[in-house]
Amino acid sequence: MKILITGGAGFVGSSLANLFRDEFPTAKIVCLDNLRRRGSELNVRIFKERNIQFVHGDIRNPSDLSDLHETFDVMIEASAEPSVHAGAQGDPSYVLHTNLVGSLNCFEFARKYVDRTIFLSTSRVYSISALNSIQLETHGNRFVPVPNQNLQGFSSCGIAENFCVAKAKSIYGASKLASELMALEYLNSYGTKIIINRCGVIAGRGQFGKVDQGVFTLWVANHYFGKPLKYIGYGGQGLQVRDLVHPRDLYTLMKSQLEMAESCAGEVYNIGGGLSVSTSLSEYTEHCRRITEREVEIACEPNTNQLDVPLYLTDSSKAEKTFGWKPALDSAGIVEDIYNWIHDNESDLRPIFA
Ligand SMILES: NC(=O)c1ccc[n+]([C@@H]2O[C@H](COP(=O)([O-])OP(=O)(O)OC[C@H]3O[C@@H](n4cnc5c(N)ncnc54)[C@H](O)[C@@H]3O)[C@@H](O)[C@H]2O)c1
Repeated sequence: MKILITGGAGFVGSSLANLFRDEFPTAKIVCLDNLRRRGSELNVRIFKERNIQFVHGDIRNPSDLSDLHETFDVMIEASAEPSVHAGAQGDPSYVLHTNLVGSLNCFEFARKYVDRTIFLSTSRVYSISALNSIQLETHGNRFVPVPNQNLQGFSSCGIAENFCVAKAKSIYGASKLASELMALEYLNSYGTKIIINRCGVIAGRGQFGKVDQGVFTLWVANHYFGKPLKYIGYGGQGLQVRDLVHPRDLYTLMKSQLEMAESCAGEVYNIGGGLSVSTSLSEYTEHCRRITEREVEIACEPNTNQLDVPLYLTDSSKAEKTFGWKPALDSAGIVEDIYNWIHDNESDLRPIFA
């Protein structure tokens, strides 16, 4: 088997590369990445000893892909500028050229040289105003949805694939949705098999978390290194809720999807931990305190950024029904995985997080 992972030095890409390697010792695995994300270079170091080929390349340049001069059984398109805030304050060219034009370059490469492709999209394709219209109440230290709301695509299980995408969603979200549309056209016009996963928050070891992306890793790291944090928005109490999914669970799902690619190409799946693997930031602080045995100062910034949403819970029923998939790792397990990674790589990670 030959596998190409774009963004392969990033958090998700490198995690998947390692998981493929664990299960398929003889597979050819190529990770292409331009190393734009600070810290990605650390993930590359272990590729050599794991017989994973690294190619320094940029998906904005079609020739960086065609220069591979190879066909692949599988491509995972995991390269991106993954922050929802990307381009919001100014020039959107990087996010658009990578997340939209770059993804198109990948699909074009897939058309010619790849049998099955998985495109990592995002829950951020859903409209912010629609997400904000979910009525919430406060239970303990988290927001919870008020029962029995009449909103298309929303239920007590969370947000399903038919939730509103019609209104503004951020430059990041729009770039991903536009790529999704093109993936469908590639299937329709050329038979290019592309499966689309709209992921909620993915969290686990190997992520170089920042305030604007990867905050759940940053939260553990700041507890570990004794650095202050800030609850931002919604009154600054840390009540906002997300569900989490670990790359290992994503990997399990992807294998089923690749096996069933003939029937599920062109399908869109919401992928996330759902209510049972959800946490508010405030609850997450408790996990971090428990595992690091440390409390850090957490400031309150009551004002809410216009791109933020108070709650996102994934309804993964479609993926669960189709593939018999259910995430195995819960929030505590994910925190433990991140903690162990930081602990085992403390000297490498200190310059990045501390
Ligand atoms: N992490 C999450 O919570 C999450 C949630 C939903 C969707 N996603 C999607 O999953 C994918 C992987 O995200 P991640 O968390 O691993 O992010 P990441 O930043 O860790 O990894 C992305 C990688 O892409 C590389 N990259 C950026 N621009 C590139 C370019 N022009 N050419 C080649 N490589 C480039 C970066 O250097 C980085 O290593 C992205 O498509 C992201 O939008 C992530």
